[in-house]
Amino acid sequence: MRTAPWPARSGALLLRDPLPEDADQLVALRNNPVVNRFMLRTHVDPDAYAQEWASIPDSDTDFSCIAELNGRLAGLGFLDITDGWGQPGMPRGTQGIIGYMLQPDLAGRGLGTDLARGLLTAAFDALQLRRVTASCNADNVASARVLEKNGMRREQHGIEDSWHADLGWVDGYQYAMLAREWTAARTVQ
Ligand SMILES: CC(C)(COP(=O)(O)OP(=O)(O)OC[C@H]1O[C@@H](n2cnc3c(N)ncnc32)[C@H](O)[C@@H]1OP(=O)(O)O)[C@@H](O)C(=O)NCCC(=O)NCCS
Repeated sequence: MRTAPWPARSGALLLRDPLPEDADQLVALRNNPVVNRFMLRTHVDPDAYAQEWASIPDSDTDFSCIAELNGRLAGLGFLDITDGWGQPGMPRGTQGIIGYMLQPDLAGRGLGTDLARGLLTAAFDALQLRRVTASCNADNVASARVLEKNGMRREQHGIEDSWHADLGWVDGYQYAMLAREWTAARTVQ
């Protein structure tokens, strides 16, 4: 049975639903050019983005969260429930897509790995999803490492499949994990 994933702890982070008072900080983080370097959307409209986040707690498919460290907004976690590809009769809403971003001064301490692990825990344990995917630019080494450290499998390497404003056509990776792989990985630990 599906249960609400937040609040939850992952390492030093508290993952929780967004609150109205987070709006300014989450928009500032999302529009920080350092953080956006490898994001597809490199700028968001502040009001529309704040509105998107305000509606998340009422959504049946968007379980994105605030990552808090000692009371500070440390990052954003993205978790959307989606459908796979399939013929009529395919069970709906069994897949998830995750993503994450951290305040730049907090990078390199393992927090990105904690954040992604918290999203995977939410996806598999609370939301009972069957498969989770995450995509990143091949040049985004820290992001690829975060996914690999959490046991995700690289299943696609798209050669020059993505346009980067500074770098031109660059490679993209897609990672995935199945619920049974998540369970098996935890049994081994
Ligand atoms: C991606 C991001 C969340 C990583 O967060 P983080 O807290 O720095 O990640 P961690 O410290 O948990 O792990 C990073 C890993 O990448 C490695 N790494 C980082 N930069 C690297 C580089 N240039 N070359 C090789 N390894 C690198 C680190 O050594 C570490 O691996 P290790 O533990 O095996 O040593 C953070 O950099 C971020 O928010 N980036 C901007 C937003 C973004 O790009 N999000 C992902 C979009 S797909």
